[in-house]
Amino acid sequence: MTDPLSALEAAVQALPDDRTLRVRYAELLADAGRHGEAIEQASVVLREAPEDEAAKAVVRRAALAAAEPPGSTPAAAPPAPSDRHEDIDWSELEASIANPTEPPFVERVVAEHDEELLAEAAETAEDADPVAELRRETVRLADVGGLEVVKRRIDESFLQPMAHPEIAAAFGKKLRGGLLLYGPPGCGKTFLARAIAGELGAHFISVTLSDVLDRFIGESEKNIHRVFRTAREHAPAVLFFDEMDAIGAKRSGNTFSSFRNVVNQILVEMDGVDSQNDGVYVLAATNHPWEVDAALKRPGRFDRMVLVRPPDDDAREAILRVHLRRRPIEGIDLGDLVRRTKGFSGADLEHLVTTAAEKAMTESIRTGSVRPMRMDDMRAALKEVKPSIGPWVQTARNVAEYSNGSGEYDDMVEWLREEKQL
Ligand SMILES: Nc1ncnc2c1ncn2[C@@H]1O[C@H](COP(=O)(O)OP(=O)(O)O)[C@@H](O)[C@H]1O
Ligand SMILES: [Mg+2]
Repeated sequence: MTDPLSALEAAVQALPDDRTLRVRYAELLADAGRHGEAIEQASVVLREAPEDEAAKAVVRRAALAAAEPPGSTPAAAPPAPSDRHEDIDWSELEASIANPTEPPFVERVVAEHDEELLAEAAETAEDADPVAELRRETVRLADVGGLEVVKRRIDESFLQPMAHPEIAAAFGKKLRGGLLLYGPPGCGKTFLARAIAGELGAHFISVTLSDVLDRFIGESEKNIHRVFRTAREHAPAVLFFDEMDAIGAKRSGNTFSSFRNVVNQILVEMDGVDSQNDGVYVLAATNHPWEVDAALKRPGRFDRMVLVRPPDDDAREAILRVHLRRRPIEGIDLGDLVRRTKGFSGADLEHLVTTAAEKAMTESIRTGSVRPMRMDDMRAALKEVKPSIGPWVQTARNVAEYSNGSGEYDDMVEWLREEKQL
């Protein structure tokens, strides 16, 4: 029944340290035209054994074949290096190398009821909630670098209670309420929410508020209502509103009234009288919490706010690790990179790694011989990629100084002080 590929895949999973087995698996993947996965598997071997000739050969073959236009034989001998690289689709090649498979060490536990819920959601998607996304997310909490405090907070406030409802009930903990994540752009708010979705499967409903407004003017309240209804139907569930600042920014525009309606409808839904919101946890994210309507921040609504800090040294190391993990690398001095990237957001760090990868790849293809990413690629990339959170920090300082009367931004003040910005 099982074909050689899946047999080998299982064998590699059972004996992850057997390099010969993994190289053989990589070869078969390359034969099957699955170049990205072949490179990924060979890279795993090369990280342990940088001199493994068989693994190098697979990377070389797969990288060249991946650059080949579709339709040509995948197993063909590497063509002589020429100027072919002109027509290479860089982003596609990068994607195939950077993100070929699911992370090898994430357990794929998709509960059966999740499958059912997803199928059900697909069926009713039409009339249910056009703005809510119910889809499979592959990012996991383990992929989020740093942010330990925030992750612990989220774990305690709803992941654990959701996993152990009896215990939560015994302590009188009701699974409801809201948490507002805030912080500079590109530091992992949306990413963190995606990871929570990855953990929760169909119990996570994600809504981008600008979508509600832009696409459904006049329909906004109905949509908000539908989104809450979906969350209640899937309870225990987390309902995530991304880009709360986007509605703040609309105040001045002509969508103002529809923005008001959205806020009001969210208030109505969150205040739901009886126990209708039991099991519905509302999470939101914003870059500019000071633009979020004050009514939304009162008790019983988004009354808890957590700062998603720009990554400190440990977090930057973790984020760099996350993004370098699946790429062929050699001699990368993480400590040095951490020192050189003070003030970088998670997105800046990702951009840095992608830029460096592109450099290594350009050269590999130019010379016709694949080589891993090295420190000089990183250094070259550092000349191009600059930290982006400066403007946010400026605003944050003003807010900390002039509008923290109620102490709602205490954790931001603490961070600014630690960074000697206050
Ligand atoms: N803590 C992190 N760990 C790993 N990657 C991160 C982290 N923070 C940001 N990133 C990367 O930066 C990108 C942008 O982050 P995002 O979550 O969209 O920022 P925002 O806070 O603006 O919502 C993410 O897709 C991810 O690749
Ligand atoms: Mg975001």
